[in-house]
Amino acid sequence: MKKLIAILLTASLAMVALAESPSMSPSSPDGLRKGGTLGDVADAPPIAGDPRDVQREVRNYPEQPPVIPHTIRDYQVDKRFNRCLDCHSRESAPDAGAPMVSVTHFMDRNFQVRAEVTPGRYFCTQCHVPQTDAEALVESDFKPIDQVIREGDRGEGQ
Ligand code: HEC
Ligand code: HEC
Repeated sequence: MKKLIAILLTASLAMVALAESPSMSPSSPDGLRKGGTLGDVADAPPIAGDPRDVQREVRNYPEQPPVIPHTIRDYQVDKRFNRCLDCHSRESAPDAGAPMVSVTHFMDRNFQVRAEVTPGRYFCTQCHVPQTDAEALVESDFKPIDQVIREGDRGEGQ
């Protein structure tokens, strides 16, 4: 029995050593988890700041889900209750001074417009995220559509 425990202990120590060695634990593959290897315990990155003085942003293309220009902390959205619709539904939007969800939110998969927000658009934060002061995780050379068109007109960017 003692022998077995000794063997198990040695084996687990060896596994820990291997996990911490750079060859067995290369830096994280997608580079999003900065600083360290998969075996390291890194500090959690700080939570991005909530929007304070922000305004509605221009969309980069017409079908972009607009980013949310206000905090959504503690806004409950579940099967029975949807805090977002308290202000953004057809009935309450004017009183709340909020933009109503657009007609696409009432369309089912056959593009039939329904009386209520359809299940596919019910969980708002699937598509809409609040604006934050977070740094971009990866570099992007995305250009808004107007810039693409302008450059096309001038014969650039080909
Ligand atoms: C207390 C009312 C209220 C609640 C609750 C609320 N909103 Fe808003 N929302 C607003 C108002 C008012 C604006 C317009 C702000 C402005 O014009 O600067 C807005 C703007 C937005 C916009 C920007 C629309 C655009 O065209 O730029 C999005 C997206 C949005 N809200 C999503 C949400 C989501 C998702 C939730 C739930 C998690 C939510 N809102 C909850 C009041 C609310
Ligand atoms: C499947 C993705 C998706 C979900 C889920 C979703 N939206 Fe949207 N939303 C969009 C897209 C895309 C647009 C912009 C194009 C459009 O109107 O369809 C948009 C536009 C909006 C706008 C701007 C409307 C306007 O006319 O300017 C508001 C406000 C909004 N959504 C609120 C909400 C709320 C509140 C919910 C939850 C009840 C929600 N959305 C759920 C994708 C989504």
